Amino acid sequence: MVLHVHVNNYRCFSFSELGPSGSRGRALRRTRVRAVASDSATKEGEKVKLGGSELRVTKLGIGAWSWGDTSYWNNFEWDDRKLKDAKGAFDASVDRGITFFDTAEVYGSRLSFGAINSETLLGRFIKERKVKDPEVEVAVATKFAALPWRLGRQSVLAALKDSLCRLGLSTVELYQLHWPGIWGNEGYLDGLADAVESGLVKAVGVSNYSERRLREAHEKLKKRNIPLASNQVNYSLIYRLPEENGVKAACDELGITLIAYSPIAQGALTGKYTPENLPSGPRRRIYTPEFLTKLRPLLNRITDIGQSYNKTPTQVALNWLISQGNVVPIPGAKSAEQAEEFAGALGWRLTEEEMDELRSLASDTKPVIGFPVENL
Ligand SMILES: NC(=O)c1ccc[n+]([C@@H]2O[C@H](COP(=O)([O-])OP(=O)(O)OC[C@H]3O[C@@H](n4cnc5c(N)ncnc54)[C@H](OP(=O)(O)O)[C@@H]3O)[C@@H](O)[C@H]2O)c1
Repeated sequence: MVLHVHVNNYRCFSFSELGPSGSRGRALRRTRVRAVASDSATKEGEKVKLGGSELRVTKLGIGAWSWGDTSYWNNFEWDDRKLKDAKGAFDASVDRGITFFDTAEVYGSRLSFGAINSETLLGRFIKERKVKDPEVEVAVATKFAALPWRLGRQSVLAALKDSLCRLGLSTVELYQLHWPGIWGNEGYLDGLADAVESGLVKAVGVSNYSERRLREAHEKLKKRNIPLASNQVNYSLIYRLPEENGVKAACDELGITLIAYSPIAQGALTGKYTPENLPSGPRRRIYTPEFLTKLRPLLNRITDIGQSYNKTPTQVALNWLISQGNVVPIPGAKSAEQAEEFAGALGWRLTEEEMDELRSLASDTKPVIGFPVENL
């Protein structure tokens, strides 16, 4: 067994300690940990309400999947330099008033060699920041992994308590089902509602939910007077499935915020990758030289439009999402420089004509493969 962190002398279990039975033994006890206090730097006007919940988050959040991960990102290894860069990304985001962070219990799972859990890192960054900036307010979103052996509503609360322990927090702002359960989904939704009622989370959401599943989840939570705040799905200029499969329209109709993951297509929309300069790791299989060649006309136009606003392609790609309203992108930042660039996506907007033009140009690009759980 590998333990990640000690908070007030209570043991936190790493995700990998959960056996197929989902049993964690009895060693996890309720822990009182310090909550994160309020922030003075973030302007309220820069925040949006998440769906029908009372939770207000910044119009752009930061994804923390790559922090500590060795299964997809970071060339399969994690070291002190990458840790320093990830902390730099966190601090630069907060410095610029971006205080919404997305993580998950499976990010940086110890099942992957050398990894460090992303929740543990995020919790550490928050704690360290609080030392010099006690008033800082950070909104944390994390996720429940709907693994086939996890049954019943109580498995949601049990996993949430482990996440809180790793984060070193007594509550999180948003708790999401990472993907729909193959079975037992009704129980998971009840578990989400239990989490709100127990005061451990402020709002709840789902992720990778189809239109049908989204409507069912919304209805079920409504019966318990709890709004479904968000659906986190893959959405970017070159991955527009939510526009085609009814998810975006259903979010708008039901007042559910669409949280857009992989909003810069894992770096492809920044313009830095070319057929001669491919991304590292598994991304090479998605963003191939052929794909990047086809992407060029869209990137050229994104660059041109960006120049007229003094903005980079990354900022244009993110603004295309933010300007739609009801969409909150959560780009992943590995360094302070990347996070700083994201901040420049806020505070201005593309015109409707520019947005339509980019969408139409993007439709010439063959869609990349998504996460199959979207179709469960
Ligand atoms: N719910 C789900 O199933 C799910 C699935 C995927 C992601 N997510 C969430 O969404 C977040 C974001 O998605 P993502 O990480 O897949 O993709 P993304 O945000 O589209 O891309 C992030 C990557 O782009 C590169 N990058 C970032 N900023 C840049 C900049 N300013 N200039 C140039 N390159 C830059 C970095 O990689 P390099 O520097 O190595 O190029 C970075 O890791 C995740 O962290 C996670 O929280 C959720």
